[in-house]
This record gives sequence, structure tokens and C-alpha cells, in this order.
Amino acid sequence: MIDRLAVPLPWLDRAGRLSWLKLAVFLACIAPALYLAAAFRLDALGAKPITALIHATGEWAVRFLLFSLAISPLRRIADWGKVLVVRRMLGITVMAYAVAHLALYAVDQNLVLTKVASEIALRLYLTIGFVALIGLIALGLTSTDAAIRKLGPNWHRLHRLVYTIAVLALVHYFLQSKIDVSDPVFSAGLFLLLMGWRAMRRFKLPERPWSLLLLAILGGLATAGLEAAWYGLASGVPASLVLAANLDVSGPIRPAWWVLATGLLMPALALLRGARATGRTAKPGGSGRDRVAAPRTAPTRAAVSEPLSPSA
Ligand code: HEM
Repeated sequence: MIDRLAVPLPWLDRAGRLSWLKLAVFLACIAPALYLAAAFRLDALGAKPITALIHATGEWAVRFLLFSLAISPLRRIADWGKVLVVRRMLGITVMAYAVAHLALYAVDQNLVLTKVASEIALRLYLTIGFVALIGLIALGLTSTDAAIRKLGPNWHRLHRLVYTIAVLALVHYFLQSKIDVSDPVFSAGLFLLLMGWRAMRRFKLPERPWSLLLLAILGGLATAGLEAAWYGLASGVPASLVLAANLDVSGPIRPAWWVLATGLLMPALALLRGARATGRTAKPGGSGRDRVAAPRTAPTRAAVSEPLSPSA
């Protein structure tokens, strides 16, 4: 029965066996949608349920976009090659939430498509969101094995667009925010962290716990700088005041600290991996196979076949 299905079930691996990892990620991908559908049905989304849904789907699209960009660092730092099998699913999930986001916007405009189109053309933040959405759809449609084979090396070039799309999505996120930009600042900070890791690899900097710790600190500082710059440009608030707010423990925890806390997962994972590798080699009976459990640098088959963000 499964063999005859044109679309493979998302929780099966390439051999058609159940993958617990894929199943868990699949459930995580659909959980927000199920929750939102139930909340809508139970009338638990406040006075403007469609607006609430527009916001929630937009936020989940950005979250899953960041998760998909975190796959490569996770694979390298934790030496967890298997995690690549969920990247395509995460990418498709981003597209699905973003398409639902647009569809809900159209519902909010009473499905008057001319109004939807003119609003997108006239409002800069919507135009930017629209371009990001077109990009996501292009990446989603070229995520099949057949498209990867057909596009050959151009596939990697095309899928590098994911970084530009992420920037556009974040700009859209910032521009639609009213006064408080804590959430977009946090998302942008995580994006900077993930791009910082890619820059480290590009410049062949050592990926050790200490350098990843430095990256986490720089990520936090860059986030604080970004927040200060945004408030300075958008509302004229002096940068010194915004930066000082980061040190005020009586107020809410600023996004820079959350970015730092998330970034600390990287050196922590690297330390764990180091400890695991040491434990293996120290074992008197430690096999040769254990000893070569070092980070894989050569592209694996999964790296080529799990699209929607470049493998590095
Ligand atoms: C044609 C494409 C798009 C349209 C028409 C659109 C429309 C909107 C609208 C109307 C809002 C709410 C603005 C407000 O309440 O003032 C919004 C917010 C948002 N959108 Fe989009 N959007 C589009 C594409 C995207 C894409 C591609 C992403 C992400 C990948 C995205 C992520 C978000 C986020 C994160 C928010 C803020 C949610 C919040 O603050 O709670 N949007 N968008």
C-alpha cells in the first residue's frame, strides 16, 4: 500500500521503515496548526480570531525557518548526521505556515483578491513578505528528489536563497511590529547566531567549545546592538537607554540575553560531544569504529537529498 503512495509518508525513512526522529519532528510541525485549529473552533482566540491566526502562523513560519537553519550547526557540532533527514520536512513546514498566513490574510480581506493584491503592492512590509513567500514556494517546489536531480549543481545555488528569504521575512516581521520589537529582535538575533556559525566555517575558524562560546557572546552583543539601532532609527530612543535596559534586572529579560542563552547550547553540545568521544577512546575495548566518531565533513547522501537550506 505504502509503495503505491505517490507522496512518501513523512515519518518513513528512505527504506520505508518508521523513523522515530521523523515522526517526532512531524508531530512537532503539525502541533501548532492543530492547536490553532482547536483554539479557533473553541472560540479561544480573542475578539479577532483571524488576526490572531495571521500573527501565529507568521510567527511559526519564522520559527520553523530558524529551526531549519539550525540543522546544519546541530549536525556538525553534535556530530549528529541523522538529523539531516528532517530538514526537508522543516522547510516544507515553513512554506505551509507561510501559505496559510497569506490565505488567512485573504480571508481577513473578505477574499477580495483585488484588495489583497493592491495592499501587497502598496504596503512595503506586505510586498517584502510576498517576495519572501514566493521564494519559500520556489524552494518548496524544488525540494523533491526529481527536482534536485534535474537542477544538479544549480540546486545548491537556488537553495542558498534561503538566507535572503530569512532576511526578508525578518524585515517583514520588524516592519509590521508596532512599538515593542522584542520578538523580532530575538528572531533576528538567533539568525545572526546561525549566520555567525556559518561565517566561522567559511573562514575555517576552529569549532571548539571556546570559539563557540565566543560566538554566543558576540551573538548576544550583536542582538543588543540591533535592538538599540532599531529603536534609535524607528523612534529616536537614544541607543544608550536601550543598551542600559539590557543590564536592568528589574525589567523583562531582553532578547540579547535569550540569544546568549540559546547560543550557549553550542559550546555545551561541543563539550558533550568531546566528553563522549573521550569516553569512547578511553575504553580499553574501544573499537576503531568508535574512535573515528569525529565530525563528518564530507557531504553525505542525506546532505544532498534533504533540501530547503544549503548543507553548510
Ligand atoms: C504575501 C505574503 C504575506 C502577507 C500578505 C503577510 C501579511 C501579514 C500581516 C497582515 C501581518 C499582521 C500585521 C499587523 O497585524 O499589523 C503579518 C505579520 C507577520 N508576518 Fe506576514 N505576510 C506575508 C508573508 C510572510 C512570510 C513569508 C513570513 C515568514 C516566513 C511572515 C511572517 C510574519 C510574522 C512573523 C508576522 C508577525 C506576527 C506577530 O507579530 O505576532 N509573513 N503578516
